[in-house]
Amino acid sequence: MILVTGATGTVGRLVTERLSGTGPVRLFTRDPRRVTSTGPDVEVAGGDFDDPGGLRAALVGVRSALLVTTNPLAPAQDRNFVTAARAARVGHVVKLSAQAVADTGADDLITRWQRDNEELLRASGLAWTFLRPRAFMSNTLGWARSVREEGVVRAPDGASRNASVDPRDIADVAVRVLADPAAHAGRAYPLTGPAALSAVQQTDMLGELLGRPLEFVELTREETLSGLLARYPEPLAHALMESAARGRQGAKTGVDPTVPDLLGRPARGYRAWARDHLAAFRA
Ligand SMILES: NC(=O)c1ccc[n+]([C@@H]2O[C@H](COP(=O)([O-])OP(=O)(O)OC[C@H]3O[C@@H](n4cnc5c(N)ncnc54)[C@H](OP(=O)(O)O)[C@@H]3O)[C@@H](O)[C@H]2O)c1
Repeated sequence: MILVTGATGTVGRLVTERLSGTGPVRLFTRDPRRVTSTGPDVEVAGGDFDDPGGLRAALVGVRSALLVTTNPLAPAQDRNFVTAARAARVGHVVKLSAQAVADTGADDLITRWQRDNEELLRASGLAWTFLRPRAFMSNTLGWARSVREEGVVRAPDGASRNASVDPRDIADVAVRVLADPAAHAGRAYPLTGPAALSAVQQTDMLGELLGRPLEFVELTREETLSGLLARYPEPLAHALMESAARGRQGAKTGVDPTVPDLLGRPARGYRAWARDHLAAFRA
């Protein structure tokens, strides 16, 4: 049995689709009604990382688990998971972490949280593999509405380049790793796309694919911070500002060969991601 947490989210959903038909899979969600993948081998476990009892029940009989937590202000969630996984004698935990943990100079709250989560697993006695993606290409779905309605992308730091990764590649790697714990236990995998692109370059690519030139409007620091504060608690907004500052210094441009090495094919580029998600950006 493989347990997928974050199963209704970006990566968990893609992993679930790929695992369908490969053997028994259990999906962990707070709201089973949100699950779209079904099949004879797919079961749903309702539960919350904040509830140790629900976690223990979800982990019964689990051989391998994909661990996706998302709240840096709730560090107990990873602790609850690891405690329950040890009690259930789970064989292998594949942790969705972040490439920033390996960046010297990255010391924002979100990165420290992911480092602590990794440390928790290293110290747990469980077998683990860390997946460390750079920014998800799908983050640019946040531009979809203004592109559809106004032909405009509004974003900070238009010239900062990021070797962002296609979430489908993260999911492809996760499925490989889940299928073969012995080959991947104790490894940490940096996951990037094939090139470091700026937001301006991504905007131009989107415009070419849409057949409609798009305008890029660079947000000031103040506009960026007030937008983040409208969406996130203050400590997270400030962590994201710190992360953006590292991006401006060129800290996120490194292209890593791990995705092609593990998958035996090139990493998907932004043009392919955008082409396959163009409907979201079409007027
Ligand atoms: N986005 C990026 O650019 C980026 C880059 C590097 C690393 N990462 C890392 O990737 C991870 C996020 O992955 P993602 O984007 O695939 O996640 P996501 O789309 O935000 O989905 C996460 C899922 O977690 C579930 N969840 C949230 N709180 C929960 C709780 N208390 N108990 C149980 N389930 C809960 C939610 O499902 P339900 O609502 O159904 O319960 C949600 O669908 C984070 O660890 C982040 O640091 C992201």
